[in-house]
Amino acid sequence: MKNVTGAGVVVTGAGSGIGAALARRFAAEGARVVVNDINAAAAAEVAAGCDAAVVPGDAASEPGVARLVSVATEVLGGIDLYCANAGVAQGGGQDAAEADWETSWQVNVMAHVRAARLLTGPWLERGSGHLICTVSAAGLLTMLGSAPYSVTKHAALAFAEWMAATYGHRGIVVQAVCPQGVRTPLLGASGAVGELILGGSADAVIDGIADGRFLILPHPEVARMYAGRAADPDRWLHGMNKLQRRVEEIG
Ligand SMILES: NC(=O)c1ccc[n+]([C@@H]2O[C@H](COP(=O)([O-])OP(=O)(O)OC[C@H]3O[C@@H](n4cnc5c(N)ncnc54)[C@H](O)[C@@H]3O)[C@@H](O)[C@H]2O)c1
Repeated sequence: MKNVTGAGVVVTGAGSGIGAALARRFAAEGARVVVNDINAAAAAEVAAGCDAAVVPGDAASEPGVARLVSVATEVLGGIDLYCANAGVAQGGGQDAAEADWETSWQVNVMAHVRAARLLTGPWLERGSGHLICTVSAAGLLTMLGSAPYSVTKHAALAFAEWMAATYGHRGIVVQAVCPQGVRTPLLGASGAVGELILGGSADAVIDGIADGRFLILPHPEVARMYAGRAADPDRWLHGMNKLQRRVEEIG
């Protein structure tokens, strides 16, 4: 798929942030959009604002994904593009609570696996389908201060890579969006700046769909850092540790 005009699109976690920006942008491009979010009121508001359908609910659990895919398939008459965008950003290191590790794993990783499980069959049968996973620059690099987020975003990227490597020749396109920036209340509360960042991600996804490359990078400097990490992991880790020390000094 090179553009979304006329396509049946599902966006999970679209009641807020990047997902909402994606849903609005897809609708503006002429896609038929299903807005999902676990926050039903937020999903309904976004859907109403862009003339989209709404299928609220959990986009991570097995029954939640099954319901979403089944209802969206019926509403859209088939899903052309599925954006596995819902995500959680839990802070903390190795000592983060078991529950936080578990939620991160379920929402940031298994949500994508479970959606792919249901979508792949019909997509292979018809010879086309498009999965876009909202990962993060943390999935290519790391996020200081958040081990559950960094680890599960790496896993999400690994799954998207695996899907692309396995099904690329059979009509399934898989792309990973890796925006930089930390999902903090600050971003949410940052008004115009926050909107710019989120809108930038939606623009990058539209361009990325046309371009077709696996990695969609709203912040191009991430590509340079990713290449630096691969070329010299020790130098990269030294740089990250230097940043960690600076964060500790600031307090
Ligand atoms: N904002 C950033 O700077 C940034 C950077 C990199 C990656 N990301 C990623 O982008 C995606 C969207 O993040 P955002 O910043 O827009 O966050 P956000 O909190 O504004 O939006 C996430 C939405 O997902 C919903 N959600 C959470 N769990 C869900 C579930 N199980 N089922 C359905 N919906 C669920 C939430 O209710 C929320 O509305 C996430 O995967 C996040 O990790 C964000």
